[in-house]
Amino acid sequence: MHAIAQSVMKKHPLCAAFFAILLTGFNSQNLTAWQSNNVGIAAENMVATVNPIATDAGVAAFEAGGNAVDAAVAAALMLSVVDGYNSGIGGGCFILIRRANGEVVAIDGREMAPSAAHRDMYLTDGKPDTSLSQEGPLAIGVPGALKAYEQAVGEFGNQDFASLVLPAAKRAREGFSISPTYASVLKLTSKSLAKYPGSKQVFLNDDGSPRQAGERLVQSDLANTLERVANEGVDYFYRGDFAKQTAQWMQQNGGLITEADFANYLTRRRKPVETTFRGHTIIGFPPPSSGGVHVAEILNILEAFDLNALWEKDPATYVHVVVEAMKLAFADRAYWLGDPDFAEVPLGLIDKNYAAELARKIDLQKVTPVASHGTPPLADAEFFERHTTHIAAADDRGNWVAITTTVNTSFGSKVVIPGLGVIMNNQMDDFAVAPGIPNAYGLIGTEANCVQPGKRPLSSMSPTIVMKGEQPFMTVGAAGGPRIITQALLAIVGKIDLGMSLEQAVGQKRFHHQWSPDLLMLEKGFPPTIKDQLENMGHRVRVSNRAGVSQAIIFDSDGSRFVGVHDPRVPGKAAGVTKVPTDR
Ligand code: GLY
Repeated sequence: MHAIAQSVMKKHPLCAAFFAILLTGFNSQNLTAWQSNNVGIAAENMVATVNPIATDAGVAAFEAGGNAVDAAVAAALMLSVVDGYNSGIGGGCFILIRRANGEVVAIDGREMAPSAAHRDMYLTDGKPDTSLSQEGPLAIGVPGALKAYEQAVGEFGNQDFASLVLPAAKRAREGFSISPTYASVLKLTSKSLAKYPGSKQVFLNDDGSPRQAGERLVQSDLANTLERVANEGVDYFYRGDFAKQTAQWMQQNGGLITEADFANYLTRRRKPVETTFRGHTIIGFPPPSSGGVHVAEILNILEAFDLNALWEKDPATYVHVVVEAMKLAFADRAYWLGDPDFAEVPLGLIDKNYAAELARKIDLQKVTPVASHGTPPLADAEFFERHTTHIAAADDRGNWVAITTTVNTSFGSKVVIPGLGVIMNNQMDDFAVAPGIPNAYGLIGTEANCVQPGKRPLSSMSPTIVMKGEQPFMTVGAAGGPRIITQALLAIVGKIDLGMSLEQAVGQKRFHHQWSPDLLMLEKGFPPTIKDQLENMGHRVRVSNRAGVSQAIIFDSDGSRFVGVHDPRVPGKAAGVTKVPTDR
């Protein structure tokens, strides 16, 4: 047997199960996570994204003398060109920065509902109609990503913002080769894109068929927009022609966003969420993200269990315990979480005693039904102030950056305003369009997340930084709707509790439970025996190809080097400027 396989099997029983399957003839394609070349190593800095062109833009920013903030934003801007169906300047983002001086900053660039938005705007004949919140003019929230990027660079980077925008503009003008993944998403969304002339012109042929893998995608209007942002600043977008033309289109097409909505858009500085986990400090993004709160809540619950021992002796029980904790947290998410400027989100959700109380509800042998949310301490008194992509970056000055950014589902609202070239988000669907009505991810919500003018829809985006003592140890984040929360969680548990390498922690087979629907999702490739055991404990299991996409970086203090990992499930890239020859 291969020596690496032997050593991994000894240390990690769940891997052992996978290798055992491999050795008995299982299709090795399913195991690429353990064997892939998705790792970057460099001494001075690191950036990891889902797209090599975007990672190269980040590396170029480092080469120009930029820090991790500049590199992460350069990568984010490039993603808006080469990966625009996931994220872009027509969407929103959360940026978490641990600065070289130790300060931690959370910049909220989430979309805002337009001033004319109201809670019944997605009812047709009195019935909830999610087609309106998921596609077309009413699905669009006022975008925040561009303003947040500019603010991050202006306050915490050291490069001129325009110098980070221009490479993206150049790439939009020169084009890039459509990847097979891009082409398949385009094919799936082409019918919807065809309804909007601005989108059709960019992404489809005259006969409405989608552009194919290998074709060059040139986005001249997007190039013009980005050049104007570089030359005139973000005011072009928020107070200039971009806002004006978008507002005109909205008026002609039944949308609500006005020029004033653009002009009134504000990023918010939030207080990060912090908890501890086995001697580490976990720093996450606070509401309107649910990510930081629920990664913290689940980790707090899991502290009551010896996960490593469970995992070594009985992987199915390990999965069961983590899933039961996920269910409890997601039940709380559905009830309590919303924009803290409008809803009172209890701080007690991350209280250790509350977590201990929830942990006592977990039965190691069988599923415990979770009928509804819990009630954390001081629930009425103490509150948090009030398809997606993840970029991880770090530098040797001590800056660590986690940006999760999104237009929501693939190609967002499917709308490109003619002449502007920007894919507009459909983030309004992240509101609870009506109590109990699931959004595109099957998530439900209540009053805390209802539509209100100027409110930000609840998110699952979970940019996270893990500290060991005073030093940043790891950063991780993900794409994939509610699976973002569980991916960040599993990567942290994999690294800290299960002793995995970062590559293994990101590549491990994932599982997910979001309380509603009551379904345990196992990533394809889980050993069937574990699935059987979980079903015997009472779980309703569904095997899924969808597992989300994570990027992460650690600082390996033994080797004095950054190790970056892009998710092996996609052809991304992790790289820094100074390459160190290494065995990883
Ligand atoms: N639009 C996905 C999220 O923010 O959770």
